[in-house]
Amino acid sequence: MDKLRVTGGTPLHGSVHISGAKNSALPAMAASLLTADEVTLENLPLVNDIFTMRRLLRELGVKVDFEADHSARLRAEKILSDEAPYDLVKTMRASVLVLGPLLARTGHARVSLPGGCAIGARPINMHIKGFEKLGTIERTEHGYLEAKAERLAGSEIIFDRITVTGTENLMMAGTLAAGCTVLQNAACEPEVVDLAEMLIKMGAKIEGAGTPTITIEGVHALKGTSHRIIPDRIEAGTFLVAGAITNGELELLDANPSHLASVIEKLRDTGVHIETGPGRITVRGGDIRPADVVTKEYPGFATDMQAQYMALMTQANGTSVIHENIFENRFMHASELLRMGADIKIDGSRAIVTGKTQLTGANVIASDLRASASLIIAGLVADGFTVIDRVYHLDRGYEKIEEKLRAAGAQIERLK
Ligand code: EPU
Repeated sequence: MDKLRVTGGTPLHGSVHISGAKNSALPAMAASLLTADEVTLENLPLVNDIFTMRRLLRELGVKVDFEADHSARLRAEKILSDEAPYDLVKTMRASVLVLGPLLARTGHARVSLPGGCAIGARPINMHIKGFEKLGTIERTEHGYLEAKAERLAGSEIIFDRITVTGTENLMMAGTLAAGCTVLQNAACEPEVVDLAEMLIKMGAKIEGAGTPTITIEGVHALKGTSHRIIPDRIEAGTFLVAGAITNGELELLDANPSHLASVIEKLRDTGVHIETGPGRITVRGGDIRPADVVTKEYPGFATDMQAQYMALMTQANGTSVIHENIFENRFMHASELLRMGADIKIDGSRAIVTGKTQLTGANVIASDLRASASLIIAGLVADGFTVIDRVYHLDRGYEKIEEKLRAAGAQIERLK
């Protein structure tokens, strides 16, 4: 298993290109199942989750060809299988995103139920309840959800709480349902809006994406399209924190500052200098002040930035409180940061971080994607070197992160 070795103490300088958003690319790829025509996607991040989705789509009969320029052509002329098998769903929960498109296109789907994961139980009960509302008959057997519907029938779905992939799954299903589907308490994330824009280009009738009420008027068929995936706001946020914590100066290119408004505002509260322009963000470090944060659904501060922010707060002069509101177990990185010398107390869903502590390099274990990023960030300012184990988590969602960091001056290497 690969490891990363980070030697701390070098401020980051230079420019970093931000890749396409993994969490936008995954539903966009799944949406190719909705049409027999060819769909072209541009700006795909070349990360392992995207390759897992490619494998899944190929098993379902989709022809998927990746080009050298981060684009791919996908063609689901015939659906050959309607099953998302256990080995793929357990590798990547976002595999459940094929449920909506499969049901809408073929009226049948069999999807392995994802179990819990490192950051929480993460049930898909709200997806299931939503499909029931659209007239699907479902049963669970041998760990699989089997769903059938002659043709989905539009309905009003009120989510008990906001779910990103739940909104995406049901929005895709609604595009081919008979009549009108209204999603209430829908997720407003930029990735949901990106998917809606792609579906509209395919001929779907969708209004309200980006607001809590999305209305979808079902149509009989969708056509092919070409779509460019939005920049990855979490990758951009991760580099902003890396630039800030090392007291460096970084310019992020091909980013979308408006998707990062709450992260930028919070970093400014901590004394970090940030400037934005069309497609670019610059960050310059300084003395870091503590600032409390509460993770929330978009446009709030993203849970996917919480671990990186915690690493930053270990370097703030004073105490900050980080409240994790979305997932019940997303503080696994705290115990690894403690091993590096951080002062963090966990109290239920709150982490109390007291800085500034001189971190020291240690052997640490990455528990999930964003936790891995926070350990790299901590390693960048730690005394000596930090060896991060289980970096396969990182490879699921960050494209060439060590190359990008190295180009900005970081001392980081992959140990095979
Ligand atoms: N939830 C339920 N029932 C459901 C669905 C969700 O109880 O049917 C709960 C979850 O357990 C969680 C909360 O609702 O406590 C929100 O979960 P959500 O469904 O929004 O999460 P997700 O769609 O599974 C996506 C991202 C995550 C990101 C979350 C929150 C993708 C592929 N994944 O997950 O990204 O953390 O939204 O913003 O879009 C990551 O990239 O590292 C990552 C984990």
